[in-house]
Amino acid sequence: MDRLWILLLVSLLSCGQGSSQQTVTKSSPADSAKYYQYRNATRDGIGKTYMGREIAQVMGHLGASWLERPEREREERTDLLLKALNLKPTDVVADIGAGTGFFTFLMAPEIPQGKVLAVDIQPEMIEYLNEGKVKRKFTNVTPVLGTESDPKLAANSIDMAILIDAYHEFSYPREMMNHIVSALKPGGRIVLVEYRAEDPNVPIKELHKLSVAQATKEMKAAGLKLLKNDDRLPQQHIMFFGK
Ligand SMILES: C[S@@+](CC[C@H](N)C(=O)[O-])C[C@H]1O[C@@H](n2cnc3c(N)ncnc32)[C@H](O)[C@@H]1O
Repeated sequence: MDRLWILLLVSLLSCGQGSSQQTVTKSSPADSAKYYQYRNATRDGIGKTYMGREIAQVMGHLGASWLERPEREREERTDLLLKALNLKPTDVVADIGAGTGFFTFLMAPEIPQGKVLAVDIQPEMIEYLNEGKVKRKFTNVTPVLGTESDPKLAANSIDMAILIDAYHEFSYPREMMNHIVSALKPGGRIVLVEYRAEDPNVPIKELHKLSVAQATKEMKAAGLKLLKNDDRLPQQHIMFFGK
């Protein structure tokens, strides 16, 4: 009996240690090991690679002020991004990795008969989203707490998924994309907005950038093809993918 208790205690303690590491998740799908490789983490990475790319560390909620910085609109030309999306008033859009909702709240007024599902894995970001929604009196924004491998979207429910400066942080990119693809309605689009890895002058850490070639390769694994790469933004690609 004593031995049993010791074994139970040891296994409970090791679970606790595991849950504090960024690369290990309770929602880890059993078969994910075959898609990912592991190595020593570089400064901004988690030591896990997918299709040759090291996954970046998640930007914590303490970085919220950077997402909301006043110069962001001018630096990133978010007005041009909004135009490029060509939203219809009835669109249902999932903003995945929505953060504080900087772009969620720019899209919401463009889709008065539709809605934005603002997904994030950090409860603190969900709080920002709820506060922002109340402050602006928006009724068409629904914050959604997802997991590292599942954005918790219903099948066949969205016209567009947009991932702004977020995909490179997904610790289960393959599982995330499979879920997002099943959530798309027929003819739906997936939009990846990522800093250009091809341009050394873009002043962003390497793991937080993505090239068109790498994105295309990873999206192909989820059954998606590149429909258009729009380069109207000063520092980021706007990559449109479809089935
Ligand atoms: C750099 S922030 C960008 C936030 C927002 N898109 C913006 O541009 O203001 C990336 C966000 O992605 C979220 N994130 C990381 N992995 C995620 C996942 N698997 N599912 C949903 N959100 C995720 C992080 O919590 C963080 O809030």
